[in-house]
Parts: sequence; structure tokens; C-alpha cells
Amino acid sequence: MRTIKTCIFDLDGVICDTAKYHFYAWKTLADRLGIIFTHKDNERLKGVSRMESLEILLSLSDKIYTTGEKLVFAEEKNKNYVDYITKMGKDEVLPGVTEFLEYCREQGIKTALGSVSRNAETILKRLKLEPYFDAVIDGTKVVNAKPDPEVFLKGAAETGAKPEECVVFEDAFTGIQAAKAAGMPAVGIGDAKVLSNADFVIRGFEELRGEQLIARIRQF
Ligand code: BG6
Ligand code: MG
Repeated sequence: MRTIKTCIFDLDGVICDTAKYHFYAWKTLADRLGIIFTHKDNERLKGVSRMESLEILLSLSDKIYTTGEKLVFAEEKNKNYVDYITKMGKDEVLPGVTEFLEYCREQGIKTALGSVSRNAETILKRLKLEPYFDAVIDGTKVVNAKPDPEVFLKGAAETGAKPEECVVFEDAFTGIQAAKAAGMPAVGIGDAKVLSNADFVIRGFEELRGEQLIARIRQF
């Protein structure tokens, strides 16, 4: 039976549906640049850093852009994205998330945020979820984006757990690759067809009660 000391949560698409705001903001930029950008293309951007996401988006075009232009594009996308997230409220926490965080607290299971977003603090504040996390590892604290395991290994270290005593909750294929590279089991949040590398997939935290979810993870 597996011991679980820390639950590590991705942010975008797991705690809240900011994945859609990332998409809208990239899409606005893509439209301006005349690049066709679909939801399918957007899947490849999940869990990936801002600049790497931009590179993927620009790879859909034949044009070559300078580093200066790329920095302007990334800034433009982020400004658009920040406009969305600064309007967010507590009601945008995904169903079942707060209850599961509370369950972890009651059970003495530590909680960490493991996101490569540089906007994570702003979002946690808007959602009033800061008090629920023992550690917040975000894009300002890591050098390598997912699928590198750095973000999750830091979450484990900061909460005093060994990698095998952690479990990761992720909505991105790349994020699950990062969890695996860290030696951690991973629960996919979303579509089982997309998250084929997860140990198991749920549609959302409202699907199972805290004790059921933890009991299932302990059996991995
Ligand atoms: C991840 C998202 O959480 O953060 C990616 O899944 C995003 O889509 C990345 O590119 C970086 O986010 P930000 O907020 O720093 O631009
Ligand atoms: Mg995500």
C-alpha cells in the first residue's frame, strides 16, 4: 500500500479552467498574425512555458520572427491573458477542488502547487486558495518547464516528502510525463484518450469523494 504525504496539483486546467483563457489569448495573437490555431494545437501548449508555447504557435507559420518580435508577442499574449485572470473569482475554482483540498488538510496530507505559470500567485489570490497550499512552486521558481520533473521535485522537497510519497494531479500529457520523470504516480484530470500516460483519469474532483480518491491512489 502506497503512503501519500503530498498531493501536488497543477494549476491551469486542474484547480481552475484557466486553460481556456490561455487558449483565447493565444488565439487572439494567432488571428492577428494570420496563423490558424485550433483546440488540437492548443493541447500541445498545456504545461509548456510561455516562450516554448509561443515557439510551438509560430511553428504553425512559415514566417521567421526575430527574438525582439517574439518577446513582444509573448508580452501581448500575457497582457491579454492577465485581463482574463484579474476578473476571476472564487466561483471559478473547479467543482470538488476545495473539498478535496480540505480533505487533505483534515488527513494531514501536505499540498503543493506545481505549475510553470508565472501568473500562479495572481490566480491563487483571486480564487482565495492561498491558505490551502503548504508550498507553491510556480514559473518564477523553476528553470525547466514540464516535461522536466523540476517543478514536482521541488514541490516534494518543500513539503518534506520523497517523490514516491507524492501524487500529481495533471490535465496535460506533458505534465504527466513530468510526474513520471519525477518518479510520482499521476492522476489525469480530463479526457482519458488524451491522458493515456496517467495511472488513472477522472473528469474532475467532483467524481469521487476524498477518501475514495486517496484509497484508489494508495493501490498504485
Ligand atoms: C501552464 C499552462 O500552467 O503555464 C501553459 O498549462 C502556460 O499553457 C504556462 O503556457 C505558462 O503560463 P504563464 O501564465 O506563465 O504564461
Ligand atoms: Mg494544466
